[in-house]
Amino acid sequence: MEYKLLVKKAIESREKAYTPYSNFKVGAALQTKSGKIYTGCNIECASYGATNCAERTAIYKAVSEGDKEILAIAVVGAPEEYTYPCGICRQVIVEFGKEIKIIIAQTEEDYKVYNIKELLPNSFSPEDLTERECT
Ligand code: THU
Repeated sequence: MEYKLLVKKAIESREKAYTPYSNFKVGAALQTKSGKIYTGCNIECASYGATNCAERTAIYKAVSEGDKEILAIAVVGAPEEYTYPCGICRQVIVEFGKEIKIIIAQTEEDYKVYNIKELLPNSFSPEDLTERECT
């Protein structure tokens, strides 16, 4: 796993951010077990609630390609700041793996690596719904 490459891809993806309302651009890039990399940017909408974060764009692209064993996801937001995933994105990340690494980056040389367990402790996750019968 090359975190630097993921950060580079996230920075490139940030260029594509569609942010006419906040002008806050975010890029993400994830790698799956298959070795493939998927990128995403935030996409805003005049109906603000329909906005999609960069992390979720990348995750939904991977999952919709049938590639859902995510190993790591890099996130870059405002330059010269560390941008952390919002609560909704943390919940979506844990949906696809409790061992996923989150790389919070400013540049290819400057990043921090977290576990999703650190960013979303005591999470409600798929295991909580197993062995339960639907009525
Ligand atoms: N945003 C992301 O894309 N990822 C995050 O984790 C934080 C927030 C976006 C959503 C919105 O387009 C803009 O940043 C401001 O909230």
